[in-house]
Amino acid sequence: MYLSFLLVSILWSLVTVAYPSDWKHVIHERRQVKPEGWIRHSRMHLERILPMRIALKQSEIHNLDSHLMRISTPDSNDYGKHWSYEKIVDTFAPSQDTIREVHEWLLAAGIARGRIKKSRSPGWLHFNVTVEEAEILLRTEYHLYEHEVTGQGHVACDAYNVPRHVQSHIDFITPTIHFDTKIVPRFDHRTRERKRSGTGFGPWGKPWLPKASPVANPTLNNLQDCSNNVTPDCLRALYGIPTLPPTMRTNPGNSFGVVEYTPQSYMGSDLDKFFSNYSKNPVELYSSAPSVLECPSTPVQKRPTLLSVDGGNIHNTPNLNQNTESNLDLQYAMALVNPLNVTLYQVGDLVQTEYTSFNNFLDSIDGSYCSDNDSTDNVTSPTVDAIYPDPLPGGYAGPRNCGGHAATKVISTSYSYNEHDLSPAYETRQCNEYAKLGLLGTTFLYCSSDFGVAGSQGRCLDPSTSSYNDGLSGMFIPSFPSTCPYVLSIGATQIKPNASVTEPEIACATKIASGGGFSNVFPMPSYQSQALKSWFKNYPPPYEAGRFNNSQQMRGYPDVSANGAKYVVALLGGYNYHLYGTSASAPTFGAVITLINEARLNVGKGPVGFINPTLYAHPYLLNDITNGSNPGCGTAGFSSAPGWDPVTGLGTPNYPRMLQYFLTH
Ligand SMILES: *[C@@H]1O[C@H](CO)[C@@H](O)[C@H](O)[C@H]1NC(C)=O
Ligand SMILES: *[C@@H]1O[C@H](CO)[C@@H](O)[C@H](O)[C@H]1NC(C)=O
Ligand SMILES: *[C@@H]1O[C@H](CO)[C@@H](O)[C@H](O)[C@H]1NC(C)=O
Ligand SMILES: *[C@@H]1O[C@H](CO)[C@@H](O)[C@H](O)[C@H]1NC(C)=O
Ligand SMILES: *[C@@H]1O[C@H](CO)[C@@H](O)[C@H](O)[C@H]1NC(C)=O
Ligand SMILES: *[C@@H]1O[C@H](CO)[C@@H](O)[C@H](O)[C@H]1NC(C)=O
Ligand SMILES: *[C@@H]1O[C@H](CO)[C@@H](O)[C@H](O)[C@H]1NC(C)=O
Ligand SMILES: *[C@@H]1O[C@H](CO)[C@@H](O)[C@H](O)[C@H]1NC(C)=O
Repeated sequence: MYLSFLLVSILWSLVTVAYPSDWKHVIHERRQVKPEGWIRHSRMHLERILPMRIALKQSEIHNLDSHLMRISTPDSNDYGKHWSYEKIVDTFAPSQDTIREVHEWLLAAGIARGRIKKSRSPGWLHFNVTVEEAEILLRTEYHLYEHEVTGQGHVACDAYNVPRHVQSHIDFITPTIHFDTKIVPRFDHRTRERKRSGTGFGPWGKPWLPKASPVANPTLNNLQDCSNNVTPDCLRALYGIPTLPPTMRTNPGNSFGVVEYTPQSYMGSDLDKFFSNYSKNPVELYSSAPSVLECPSTPVQKRPTLLSVDGGNIHNTPNLNQNTESNLDLQYAMALVNPLNVTLYQVGDLVQTEYTSFNNFLDSIDGSYCSDNDSTDNVTSPTVDAIYPDPLPGGYAGPRNCGGHAATKVISTSYSYNEHDLSPAYETRQCNEYAKLGLLGTTFLYCSSDFGVAGSQGRCLDPSTSSYNDGLSGMFIPSFPSTCPYVLSIGATQIKPNASVTEPEIACATKIASGGGFSNVFPMPSYQSQALKSWFKNYPPPYEAGRFNNSQQMRGYPDVSANGAKYVVALLGGYNYHLYGTSASAPTFGAVITLINEARLNVGKGPVGFINPTLYAHPYLLNDITNGSNPGCGTAGFSSAPGWDPVTGLGTPNYPRMLQYFLTH
């Protein structure tokens, strides 16, 4: 380590005569945890090319929180005064100072001006460098990593440096320490289940697929049977969600956004099966397509409105691994908000499924976030996000989608990372993006994961080796983006065994455990301070700082919850499956907010937008869940309790109360 650093230093002095020798360098980012499942393979060849990207610090970003709180706090005069997109872009664009300082550093380091490209968004600089140049520039060493299961490659270093005076102008640089690659399970998860501490067990990899098991004889729309089979009617009964008249005139453009990452893809035939059995009035789902008028005898099946991002498409392959998440999300989202539309953001082509990330989606709804759309990465040694046009055979040949789609007013995503997978700077930049979309009036929902305190994959952190372990001991792992204070994080509940829909639910304890805990990155947002303070005071958790950051200063999650057990879903040509998970809870809660928005639009109000401050200020808008826990890491996890708790948050939606509140505020 010391030797190679010395070598880099010598190289440095040879090539950078013009580089001011008094520039002090500091570590900008260092990876804290060994990347899960990756093996360091070999040193990168020095002549290989890396597509380097610098995420520039944005102006005014330190005031982002107060801007957002001002328009999202119920009693503020500016409540609901959402910003225009142009105002957001102008306000947060990097300053001229920042652009100049970073350019001067690169020029002094021998990266000629002509090599540095600005992306369409002002927030990024791009340039190609050899590994040798990059190692000198960032005073680091690059290695090729290989995934132990899939064999896929990834280029990374352990830490990197920048001149001290430049540091405040940079969020982060890629490719460096980040492992933002999505690992796709390459085998049938039913045969490779691994038992874990009582709760979480299931497929390996992310996105985490909700647990699926076949059901013999689900009873249709039977409210007496909801503790065994959850259907849209059960959810309506639990939360007081109305069924809108199928012929109702709806507000154009009020659509519920659901995000899916390829190879996840819904099966249209399964949607039809599901709607024909579980929609009270099947015809309602055939009502909005214009061709019904032309040819009334063949009803046209209702489908989500597809917004393809970077080649995302419906591949129509029946496959349990590939349809589960999409079928679940869409069957429930569409049934619950009907006759409102559901917009499906389908992200990524079928070739680069490993690399499509949340950034690819965020790029498509905010061009000012977009790092670029030209092909700079070497796919055989990929770095961070999927790249488009896709240079691989059969890949999507179009440009990376930068700002090509509008954001719907509610967007639900049932995919997640471990907070330790990414770096604080990287996560902060993405989290700020959710805040900006909140300024625009969008509500972002993320599921809180299905392993209780054991993150998004049922693994925990061994503090002695800084590695993930088997999930039976060690430090709790928070789930990202749930720990970002600008998303609404959704945990899971269930109906008690044999109980009716009118009895209080408990934290989900069947097959999965509601993800919950405290961030190691994001400080406690102001809107949570009362709720967290009283939880720590009244129900102090029995864990030391070695398990989680118990300073009472960090963001707690989830914010709220909804049923996540025994959802009846049509899969594989119409067989009924039971699905479990916060994956189910997120679209259910998102449907509720979409219906609230519809009611507000009907009386001339705007969408609720960033909703967290309102919910924390008015916890009676939710049904408090007080029973259950979220075990993991060899512990009982946290306990559900009166008021907010890190298992079920503030509780499940109470639609009638929410409606009353949001129609009068
Ligand atoms: C891209 O990766 C391949 C395989 O690792 C390598 O042979 C090739 O030289 C790389 N190309 C560039 C431009 O780095
Ligand atoms: C980097 O190199 C690739 C492949 O030669 C090229 O397509 C791309 O435009 C270059 N990017 C920059 C920022 O110069
Ligand atoms: C719903 O989507 C369909 C198909 O995209 C469209 O024709 C219809 O106008 C949309 N309805 C509303 C209310 O937005
Ligand atoms: C990105 O794509 C758009 C078209 O979608 C094109 O106008 C623009 O020039 C592209 N930018 C780069 C840097 O390739
Ligand atoms: C919590 O729920 C469990 C499972 O139904 C039940 O056995 C227990 O009595 C409940 N506890 C409380 C305090 O209601
Ligand atoms: C639920 O009801 C069934 C059938 O009545 C019974 O066999 C079972 O023991 C009950 N389970 C619980 C947890 O009460
Ligand atoms: C916990 O968070 C506090 C506040 O951010 C921080 O000062 C402290 O270092 C953290 N503790 C650990 C063990 O990381
Ligand atoms: C729909 O209902 C019919 C009749 O009860 C049943 O035979 C079929 O299995 C159900 N299919 C689905 C997908 O629920």
